[in-house]
Amino acid sequence: MGSKSKHVGTWGIAIHPEFQGQRLGLKILRKIEEFARDKGIKKLQAAYISENKSAEALYVGKLKYDIEGRQRFSALLKNGKYADIVLIGKILDKDLLKKDYEC
Ligand SMILES: CC(C)(COP(=O)(O)OP(=O)(O)OC[C@H]1O[C@@H](n2cnc3c(N)ncnc32)[C@H](O)[C@@H]1OP(=O)(O)O)[C@@H](O)C(=O)NCCC(=O)NCCS
Repeated sequence: MGSKSKHVGTWGIAIHPEFQGQRLGLKILRKIEEFARDKGIKKLQAAYISENKSAEALYVGKLKYDIEGRQRFSALLKNGKYADIVLIGKILDKDLLKKDYEC
């Protein structure tokens, strides 16, 4: 990330299928959040493929990430179908919402 994004942390994780559903994803992401807060990171962001319902349930459902955008038809799956890439973010420092904002 460039100097304009020094306050942002970007992550991606993958749990081996054998170990999914054992709350490892949840534990890792809570650690990532704790680490990011300690380092003064103000926002976390990531992406997942729209057909991945586990990712959606964990990131958006459980960990309360916001869906910030969808890149339509940007993923081509092994089964030949297309899917979206869903962009998600979570603001860690609520003061960020009070800052001057250009959009
Ligand atoms: C998405 C992924 C990281 C989830 O990790 P995981 O360790 O399997 O998930 P956890 O066991 O920590 O799930 C925690 C919570 O998320 C939700 N959740 C996770 N998978 C779910 C599913 N298939 N259906 C419904 N809820 C689900 C539940 O609320 C669950 O809490 P619960 O145990 O109280 O029900 C994992 O499945 C994975 O690595 N998938 C392949 C790679 C990938 O898609 N990465 C995403 C791009 S970053």
